[in-house]
Amino acid sequence: MEINAFGVEEWLNVWEKSATYDIAQSTISSMTMDEILNLDGNQGEEFYKLLNSQKMNYGWIEGSPEFKTEVAKLYKNIDPDNVLQTNGATGANHLALYALVNPGDHVIAEYPSYQQLYDIPKSLGADVDFWQIHEEDNWYPSIDELKQLVRPDTKLICLNNANNPTGTILDREFLEQVVEIAKEVDAYILVDEVYLPLDNPDKFVSIVDLYDKGIATNSLSKTYSVPGVRVGWVVSNSELADIFRKYRDYTMICCGVFNDMLAVYVLRHRQQVLKRNRQLVLNNLEILKNWIDNEPRASVILPQAVSTSFPKLDIPEDIEEFCIKLLEEKGVLLVPGNRFDIPGHVRLGYCASEETLKNGLTKLSEFMHEQYD
Ligand SMILES: Cc1ncc(COP(=O)(O)O)c(C=O)c1O
Repeated sequence: MEINAFGVEEWLNVWEKSATYDIAQSTISSMTMDEILNLDGNQGEEFYKLLNSQKMNYGWIEGSPEFKTEVAKLYKNIDPDNVLQTNGATGANHLALYALVNPGDHVIAEYPSYQQLYDIPKSLGADVDFWQIHEEDNWYPSIDELKQLVRPDTKLICLNNANNPTGTILDREFLEQVVEIAKEVDAYILVDEVYLPLDNPDKFVSIVDLYDKGIATNSLSKTYSVPGVRVGWVVSNSELADIFRKYRDYTMICCGVFNDMLAVYVLRHRQQVLKRNRQLVLNNLEILKNWIDNEPRASVILPQAVSTSFPKLDIPEDIEEFCIKLLEEKGVLLVPGNRFDIPGHVRLGYCASEETLKNGLTKLSEFMHEQYD
C-alpha cells in the first residue's frame, strides 16, 4: 500500500530536537509530570493511591469505565459505551478511516488540514476530492464548493475543527450546512477535534452533537497539554462504535493501565488544565498580535484562541530553505508552509512558554531583517 510522506511529521522528526526556540508545535505548552501531579494540590497522592494497587496487566481494553465516563461528559449526548480509547487522535483517525474507507469510495476532505484525513483514504484506494480552504475567506472552505464536490455515492466528509495549521473554527451554522449536504447522500462526517477555542469553548460544537452519522476524534495532546500520555478517543453512534471495535482489536488492544489512569486523572482535573491553558493562550495571542502589528514582513489571519497560527512571511526565498537557515543561525523552529502545500506561510505554534515565544519572535524578526532589508 502506497502512502505519501507526512509533511509536518517528517519535518518535525528531523528538526525539532535541534531547536532552542521551538515555536513550531501545536500543543499548548506541555505540562511536566510535577505540574500534572499537582493538579490535585497534593503532589499526586490521589493518582498514586490508585496506581500503586494496580496490576500492570492489559487493563481495560477499550478504556476504563472511568475514562469513558469522563470523555462522554465532553459531549451533550454521547453514551460512554460509544467512546473507544485510542493511541492519540492519530490512532483515532486511523481507526475510523481504516474501518470505513474501501477502494473506490468517494471521500471529500478539507484541504489542507491534518494530512491523515486525506492521505490515509487515498492510500486505502479511495477517490479523494480536496475541499480547499481559502485565505481570503478567513481560511474557511466554501459551502458552494462542497455542493459541487458532493456525489450521490460520497461516503465520507473529513474535517479538522479547528484547522491545523490555521487555527480556524468552523462554527455551528457552517457545520449545520455541511450536515444537511451529508444527509442528502447519507455520508458520514469525520471531524478531528483536537483543538478547542480557549477564549470561549461554547463557540465550538462537536459533530457528534449535530449529526447521527458524525464521528469525532480527539485526545489529550493539544487542548489538555499531555501529548506524552498518548491517549485519544473516537466517539460515534453505537452502530459505528461496533464497526470500530472490530478493527481496533487488530491494531492496538489497549493504551496501557498507566496511560489510562493518567488520562482519567487529567480529565477529572480538566477545569484546572483549561484555566491554565486559557491564560496561556490569551496571553500569548496578545504577544503574537503585537509582534504582527510591529513586523512589516509578517501578516496573519488570527487564530480563534486555538493553539496554532499560520502567518504569511514576506521573504524572497523558498520557505523551507528559509526555515532551515533560521533554525541553524538563530535556533528558531517553525514549520514551513510547503509542508501543508501552502508555501509563503509558516505554522507558528504560539502556545510555547512565554519566554520561548518572545525570544523566538525577536530572533525571527532579527533574521528576516538581517537577510532581506
Ligand atoms: C489535527 C490534528 N490531529 C491529530 C494530531 C495528533 O494528535 P495525537 O497526539 O493525539 O495523536 C495532531 C497533531 O499535530 C493534529 O494537529
